[in-house]
Amino acid sequence: MSATLESGQRVDIRPIQGRFGAEVIGLDPSAPLSDAAFARIEQAWFDHNFLVFRDLVMTPEQHIALTRRFGPLHIMTPLHFNLPGHPEVLVLTNAVERGRPLGLRGAGMGWHSDGEDKRIPNAGSMLYAHRVPDDGAATLFADMYAAYDGLADATKRRIAGRRARFSRVDMHEIHYPHLPPLTEAQKRERPDVYHPLVRTHPRSERKSLFIGRWARDIEGMPPDEGFALVQALCAHASDVRFVYRHHWRLHDAVLWDNRCMLHCATPFDETRFQRLMHRTTLEGDVPV
Ligand code: SIN
Repeated sequence: MSATLESGQRVDIRPIQGRFGAEVIGLDPSAPLSDAAFARIEQAWFDHNFLVFRDLVMTPEQHIALTRRFGPLHIMTPLHFNLPGHPEVLVLTNAVERGRPLGLRGAGMGWHSDGEDKRIPNAGSMLYAHRVPDDGAATLFADMYAAYDGLADATKRRIAGRRARFSRVDMHEIHYPHLPPLTEAQKRERPDVYHPLVRTHPRSERKSLFIGRWARDIEGMPPDEGFALVQALCAHASDVRFVYRHHWRLHDAVLWDNRCMLHCATPFDETRFQRLMHRTTLEGDVPV
């Protein structure tokens, strides 16, 4: 099914994988986008969890302006991975110029949603492809509405009203055993946070499973039991039934909703290829 917007520009919206994901074809970021046309695109985002904008040739200014239509922007820290002159744009890349890395390398491996380990996680992110390797480097996306709906009734009862503890401090050594341990100052900057395992989206009002790689255990449960349940929920959340694999094309931009999805970067041959992506990030709300 496809919808055509008539309002300054013509834009087609085409579902990708049933209800999960939609392509947006024909958007011209240099042309005005009326409020009515934007509202149709925003509604598609809420209906489909993520949007793939195709052939979107845009400058960093246009990338920032387009993302800002969806909400206030978050500036990622530390600032040195952001695009010089455009702190709203995080650069994710293995590219190096004159011995200097152009951005953050190897980010986004492991299933997560952006900012899940913060008190106010990010609502959404828009990742834009500037250089795409030939051999993959797809991004995986998982539908957390479907993951919640797919839980056994007994598990739904078991997690109802419960909160997971997301701990950058505890999980750092599990995810990054090759990196130095966090310093005391870094630990103070990343205190543990507790989020409901079942989250209601503020716009769609649908329930989703809220879990990810920084979750450690579950409030009010013995740590081992909580850890085992978190692991089981993470495995369920990334089950193939709920996953879409996005094979990047040059000038794709994917806008995903961190409030009802997980995502995960995949490796590629970094000795042969460069991947250069720009990410803008939306401020979020406290999960309820
Ligand atoms: C991210 O996790 O924000 C980046 C994902 C990717 O680079 O594929």
